[in-house]
Amino acid sequence: MTIRLDQLRRCTVAVDLGAARTRVHLKQAGLVVDEPSVVAVNTYSGALMAVGSVAERMTGRTPAHIRVIRPVTGGMVVDIDMAQRMLRAMVGGKLRRAWRRRPMLRAAVCVPYDADPLARRAAVETLAGVGARRVELVDAPTSAGIGGGLPVQRAEATMILVCGATTTQVAVLSLGAIVSATTVPLGGETISNALVQHLRNEHELILPSQAVRPLHIALASAAGSSTTGAEVHGRDVVTGLARTVVVDPAEVRSAIQAPLTGLLDAVRTVLHRCPPDLVADLVDSGMTLTGGAALLPGLDTSMRQHTGMSVHIAEEPAVCAVKGLAAMLDGAVRPLSLTGRR
Ligand SMILES: Nc1ncnc2c1ncn2[C@@H]1O[C@H](COP(=O)(O)OP(=O)(O)OP(=O)(O)O)[C@@H](O)[C@H]1O
Ligand SMILES: [Mg+2]
Repeated sequence: MTIRLDQLRRCTVAVDLGAARTRVHLKQAGLVVDEPSVVAVNTYSGALMAVGSVAERMTGRTPAHIRVIRPVTGGMVVDIDMAQRMLRAMVGGKLRRAWRRRPMLRAAVCVPYDADPLARRAAVETLAGVGARRVELVDAPTSAGIGGGLPVQRAEATMILVCGATTTQVAVLSLGAIVSATTVPLGGETISNALVQHLRNEHELILPSQAVRPLHIALASAAGSSTTGAEVHGRDVVTGLARTVVVDPAEVRSAIQAPLTGLLDAVRTVLHRCPPDLVADLVDSGMTLTGGAALLPGLDTSMRQHTGMSVHIAEEPAVCAVKGLAAMLDGAVRPLSLTGRR
C-alpha cells in the first residue's frame, strides 16, 4: 500500500475503525472520539438505541427486542450500515461543523496492511456514508509506527506489532514501507476468550467476558515472582448459582499459552521472510508493541523471553494508529525524498 502524503495532508478526519474501539481525530480539534465499536438497536423499529460505551454496557443484559451489534471484526467493517450509523452518532455535531466549513471533506482511515479489495471498499463506503467525498487508506503497521514515534522512514529495520482485539499484525518496515509482514487472527479478545473457556472447562464457572480483568492482573504476577491468586466471580455451570474462584497466576499463564504461541509464530515467520540486513538491524532496535492488547500485563516479558529480542511498549499504544494518521494529516511526516537531505 503506497502512502500518498500529499493527499493525506488534504484530509481533515482520521479514523481508526477497530473491532474493539473506534477512534476519530479531527484536524485542529484532536481526538474527538475514542469509544467502543458497539451499537444497540431496537429490532422492532430498527431505531438506534445507543452507541459506544453505553451500548457496550448493554452487552449480555438485553431483552429480546434489543440487539447489540459490533459492526467491525477481524480488521474489517462487516456491517457497513451499522458502522455508518455508529460513526454518525459518535461524531455527531463535531463532524457536521467541520463539514460545513469544508464541503469537500476528505478522510483518512487505517486498514490492515493485507486488507482485501472487499475490506477496503467497506472502509471507503463507511466513511463515504458519513460525508467523506474522498477516502485515503493507510496500512495500520505504518500508521501505528509513525504514531509510536518509530523511525519508519529511515533505511533501517523497524519491527512493529499492532496488537488489536481480534487481529495482530506483525511487520518489519524500512524506508516508509512494509518489507515483511503477517496477520494472525489473535488479539486481546482471543486471549480473554481463552481465559473464559479455561474457567469453564477447569472450574465449571461461566465468566462474563468483561470480568477477565483480575485474570489480566494475575498475568503480571505470573511474569514476576508473586504468587497472589486472582479472585473471579461467575456462575456455576451445574447449579447456576454465583460462585467465586481463586485462580493461580501460573494457571492463568498456561491458559493463554495457545494464543501467545500463535503470536510468537507470527514473529518468527516475519523474521524468516526478512532480508538478513534488516534482521541484523533488529538486534539493536528490537520490536515495539502497539495496539490496546500491548497493555496485556506480561506480554512484553513473554515476547522478550521467547525471542531474545528487546521489546518496547509504545507510549499510549492503543491510540498509536490514529495518532500516526493525525501526524500525516498535519504534515508532520516528511516525504521520503526529503528525509535524507541535509
Ligand atoms: N490494560 C489492558 N490490559 C489488557 N488488555 C487490554 C488493556 N487495554 C486494552 N486491552 C485490550 O486491547 C484490545 C483493544 O485494543 P485496540 O483498541 O487496539 O483494538 P482495535 O483496534 O479495536 O481492534 P482491531 O485492531 O483488532 O480491529 C481489547 O481486546 C482489550 O481487551
Ligand atoms: Mg486496531
